[in-house]
Amino acid sequence: MNGAIFYASKYGSTLEYAGWIADATGLPVYDADEQGSDPADSDFLVLGSPIIYYKLLLSRWMHRNLDVILSKPAVLFTVSGAPAGKKLDRWIRDCLSPALVRHMHHVALRGRQNPKDLTWFDRSMLIVAGLMNSDRQAAQEEMNGFDYMDRASIQPIVDLIKDLQAANGPDQQDGLSALAGHEHPA
Ligand SMILES: Cc1cc2nc3c(=O)[nH]c(=O)nc-3n(C[C@H](O)[C@H](O)[C@H](O)COP(=O)(O)O)c2cc1C
Repeated sequence: MNGAIFYASKYGSTLEYAGWIADATGLPVYDADEQGSDPADSDFLVLGSPIIYYKLLLSRWMHRNLDVILSKPAVLFTVSGAPAGKKLDRWIRDCLSPALVRHMHHVALRGRQNPKDLTWFDRSMLIVAGLMNSDRQAAQEEMNGFDYMDRASIQPIVDLIKDLQAANGPDQQDGLSALAGHEHPA
């Protein structure tokens, strides 16, 4: 089966992960904001989105393409400061429809935040968020930045994609059973 990666990225780390996944699998990568690529043309989808202000940056695109995404096997990778866990799962549930959350296989990756790269607005908002955050570790990261970029962490996504690529033809049942063989944390 043929798949494609669609991503959104504000400061480049999701783009970097998408590029690493493309290198490892041969899948084409598309910036979801750019015209000219249609998710309907792929047998399966790999969707990459950072979490920005507790929301998926890709969520509007995902709502616009809801029917297409629901009609194919889909892997969602998120890139965030927060690690995998209840907080991240809640943010995802709060901004996507339950059907979409159930449908996609989610893998959480951790990103990068360099205060020097941020717009004045984002830098100010994150300083305020850090001052108000009772989780000291998260507060430090909001104010001082962090770098958790890790090429090895894409491996579960690469494994899922390889199973999907090996599934026969456009029969999506094959793709769905390929995903069903993996743990689905969301
Ligand atoms: C303005 C801003 C808001 C953010 N909000 C969150 C958030 O709500 N939760 C979280 O876990 N990480 C948050 N982060 C961290 C980003 O998810 C992380 O920096 C990610 O790597 C950004 O991806 P990108 O470089 O592809 O834009 C935020 C980062 C920025 C700059």
